[in-house]
Amino acid sequence: MAERTLDHVALVVADLEATARWYVEALGFREAYRETVAEQGVRIVGIDAGSAVIELLEPLSKDSPIERFRGDAKSRLHHIAYRVDDIAVELARLKASGLRLIDETPRKGAHGNTIAFLHPKSTGGVLTELCERSER
Ligand code: CO
Repeated sequence: MAERTLDHVALVVADLEATARWYVEALGFREAYRETVAEQGVRIVGIDAGSAVIELLEPLSKDSPIERFRGDAKSRLHHIAYRVDDIAVELARLKASGLRLIDETPRKGAHGNTIAFLHPKSTGGVLTELCERSER
């Protein structure tokens, strides 16, 4: 099995600009990218955290599932993503091992990456993502 690397930690936040500014001005991180992913209904700011990224998600709609997940919190941990070299191979391996998947086939994620979510019921309650990085 390939060496494991954390790719990103994603937080759903109430105020994207204020939270991004806080990471940059208070904590000294650098903003790496920002984009809107319409398919997932979120605006995203990626904070460069060395070998990994802190991804801030702000829902585009007030009645989206991800916004309901946030609830009354200003921010809440949404998922943890680990990086894989070949997502199709890893997904097939996990499926064969009996792990429950949300995405049976990989799909397009933020920042041009290919992703797939594993079901929290199979991951100890934490929404977990596989992430194959695009060449960039
Ligand atoms: Co993610």
